[in-house]
Amino acid sequence: MKKTYIAPNIERNSAGNTNKYGAKSVVRYQDKIDGIPVKEIVEQFGSPVLVLSESQIRRRHRRLMDALQMHYPKVRLAWSYKTNYLGAVCNIFHQEGSCAEVVSGMEYAMARRLGIPGNEIIFNGPGKKRHELELAIREGARIHIDHLDELYLIEKIAQELDLVPQVAIRVNMDTGIYPQWDRFGFNYENGEAYRAINRIVSGKAMKIVGLHAHIGTFILDAQAYYYEAKALLELAQRMKDELGITVEYIDMGGGFASQNTLLGSYAPGEFISPSFDQYAEAIGAAFNESHFVSQNLPKLILETGRALIDEAGYLISSVVGKKNLPSGERAVILDAGVNTTITAWWYKLKVTPTRPFPGAYQNTIFYGPLCMNIDIMRPAVPFPDLQTGEPVLITPTGAYNNTQWMQFIEYRPPVVLISETGKLELLRPREELDDVIGREMIPEHLRSQ
Ligand SMILES: Cc1ncc(COP(=O)(O)O)c(C=O)c1O
Repeated sequence: MKKTYIAPNIERNSAGNTNKYGAKSVVRYQDKIDGIPVKEIVEQFGSPVLVLSESQIRRRHRRLMDALQMHYPKVRLAWSYKTNYLGAVCNIFHQEGSCAEVVSGMEYAMARRLGIPGNEIIFNGPGKKRHELELAIREGARIHIDHLDELYLIEKIAQELDLVPQVAIRVNMDTGIYPQWDRFGFNYENGEAYRAINRIVSGKAMKIVGLHAHIGTFILDAQAYYYEAKALLELAQRMKDELGITVEYIDMGGGFASQNTLLGSYAPGEFISPSFDQYAEAIGAAFNESHFVSQNLPKLILETGRALIDEAGYLISSVVGKKNLPSGERAVILDAGVNTTITAWWYKLKVTPTRPFPGAYQNTIFYGPLCMNIDIMRPAVPFPDLQTGEPVLITPTGAYNNTQWMQFIEYRPPVVLISETGKLELLRPREELDDVIGREMIPEHLRSQ
């Protein structure tokens, strides 16, 4: 076979080639996802295309359940819709046994549309509206109260409907993670959370069935969950001792880190993100030390999002063109940008070639196709030369991309699921002009130029 020509390139011999983790990263190629050739996926669905692996999602779910149940027997996962609310994805989690965790009326409606009954929905979020609360109360959802005005509103609706809503309060606390996420819920340390509980009890309009916290996201210190669990369990004990109320569940929220690498991080995510076992051990330690737990065995709920699905997502994107920058770096323009992959703003996403390549590397920046300076998919990384038109894999991209992606400049790509049997299932087709402007209205006097 004729060898590929590689243009010569002079690169400064930099002292940064090795670091304390060893030699500079070696770029390996991957030409298949779950056994399906990348080429075949592109031929069928075009490029770019977001691919999700059903077996990897299920495997992560089972691994997390196993890790938690090693330490505590009564565990339930609640799928955090905002992480990825494609119906097929939610149903994979529901089939695995997760209930739904939603943070808006829209997400609540999505769960109901999938057939999830109200009493299998946890309704979080700081912006719940009256009509949304009314519906959730009628349908028996667990409502997690964020602030006092919401508390008063729920009380009022409950009286009007003559129903007793099942509620929890969201609690925020110092677990050693800064900046502290203190804008959601009621504070633990200054007594606000306990005062809110007292207020709910004295109002006699609702039933407190749980306590909830979500201390932040991409938490790299597993021990923070020990402090979180301890605080919630102490609060539960106090409620029991002083108010005679026994909560049924302790909801620890989400926040486990995926294997992604944060933009500011020196070490790769797979080296520093705690494992499910480490998180489970920290939570289990607090639960197993607790008198409240030994007496009442509350349900432990986790709303893990990104750590369950990030690694199951692969964006396939192809090279539109290349250029050499005045800095000496190579620029590669891809056909997918931050409009489809918003997590490129938080992570050093991994770019992987899809074919074997000769070894010469050059520092390469990956840009998207948007005519905006912000459209950087991956800051400079040593990378082999690529040919125009060839696909690369951008990973991990399963979490928060197809919920936070933007309708901006380009159409959003299709989403495809590789089923457990290796079938390619289209979950969402590539957008067309009607998807973008179909709901627009043009006033009569502006209908012509
Ligand atoms: C209340 C709540 N639960 C769960 C999650 C999921 O978090 P993560 O994806 O970090 O696990 C979030 C996300 O911010 C959240 O706000």
